[in-house]
Order: sequence, then C-alpha cells, then structure tokens
Amino acid sequence: MSKFVLAPSILSADYTNLAKSLSIIEESGAPWVHIDIMDGSFVPNITFGQPVVEAIRKICGLNFDVHLMIDNPQNHIETFAKAGADWITFHYEAAVHHHRIIQQIHSLGKKAGICIVPSTPVSALEEILPYVDLVLVMTVNPGFGGQVLIPRCVEKIAQLAEIREKYSYNYKISVDGGINNETIKSVVDAGVDVIVSGSSFFSGSLKWEHLL
Ligand code: DX5
Ligand code: ZN
Repeated sequence: MSKFVLAPSILSADYTNLAKSLSIIEESGAPWVHIDIMDGSFVPNITFGQPVVEAIRKICGLNFDVHLMIDNPQNHIETFAKAGADWITFHYEAAVHHHRIIQQIHSLGKKAGICIVPSTPVSALEEILPYVDLVLVMTVNPGFGGQVLIPRCVEKIAQLAEIREKYSYNYKISVDGGINNETIKSVVDAGVDVIVSGSSFFSGSLKWEHLL
C-alpha cells in the first residue's frame, strides 16, 4: 500500500482551462483533487464557489477534497456536498460548534475533516479527534499558494499519528502549504497520509512517486 496520496490543489491551476488542469492531475496518477475555497473574510483571498465545484464534478471522477477557508462554514456544507464534494474540511478557527458541523457533513454522506492554522496546537483538537475522518495540518498561513513551509508545523503530523495510535482513532492526516522537493520528505517521514500540493505540482517540479 502507498504511504500517502497526493492531492494537487487547483488553486494553482489554469483557470482559463480547468479541464486541462484536471487532465494533468489524472495523468499524474494522483487520486485526489484539493479544492481551495476562500471567502475574503476568514482568509484575505477569494477563489470560487459551488458552481465551479459542480461544473468540474461533471468531468472528473477523482476524490474531491474541499478545503473551506471560510467563516460560518455551517452555512455552506450542504451546497458543497450537493455540488460534488467527497471530503469537506472546515477550519477549527472558523467555527464554534465543531461536533454539529461534523454531524452535518456525515448526515450528507460525506467525509468530515477539520483543519488547523499554524498558530493552533494539536491539543486544541482533543475533543474532536474521535469524530473526524481527516485532520488537515496547515504548514503555511492559509490564503495564498506558493508560500514557504513553517518547519515547526511538521511536528504536528507526528503528534497526530501518535494520538491516533494511542486511542485507535481513524482519521487521515493531511498537510497543506509549501510542499516542494525540499520539504516533501519531512512530511512523509512524519507519517502523513495526504499531501496537498499547488504551485510545485503545477509547475511540474514536484517529484513524489519515488516516496510512495
Ligand atoms: C493555501 C491553500 C493551499 C494551497 C497550497 O491557503 O490552502 O491548498 O493551494 O499551495 P502551495 O502548495 O503552493 O503552498
Ligand atoms: Zn488547501
């Protein structure tokens, strides 16, 4: 079995030709597509919404990993589920009633993920870890592609793996931000399950198959 799956982020795709960008992902052998939703409030940038997810769902059969960098995520779970998300990940920092949102995602038949920004410790997730299907560790402050990975955040991957082992939890551990040929080995060694890559994947520079 492979050590991890690659989830290329269409944040760095060619927006004039998303179909071509999705073909590039499919041809690479990556089984997931990471879809960054930004609202200009929780993060300073704005990307796109449900209509784009719905459109690309029609032409792509890969796993849709939707990363909601938005305030009030509870208001948009249902529409992203209907648009075709398979995994829906919201930010710990953008919500209060985490259990309720996870239940909401599960009730729609989707996998539920929670994400932490670099300043949030793993310990903040203590009460929620038994219920989630995925924990997304941000290794940059969310909002933009092409930023530099903060090395200290990589330790959170190993911490989450240790907690999962200790309590027999089932979540996948994902990492997002600043993954390139210099940093990818550190997250694989830490025990990551899903690697998100935007700029280095679409520039064609990322080499990952040799680490599988
Ligand atoms: C950043 C996004 C990331 C982004 C990563 O806020 O959540 O998914 O696409 O881009 P790179 O791989 O360029 O850091
Ligand atoms: Zn992301």
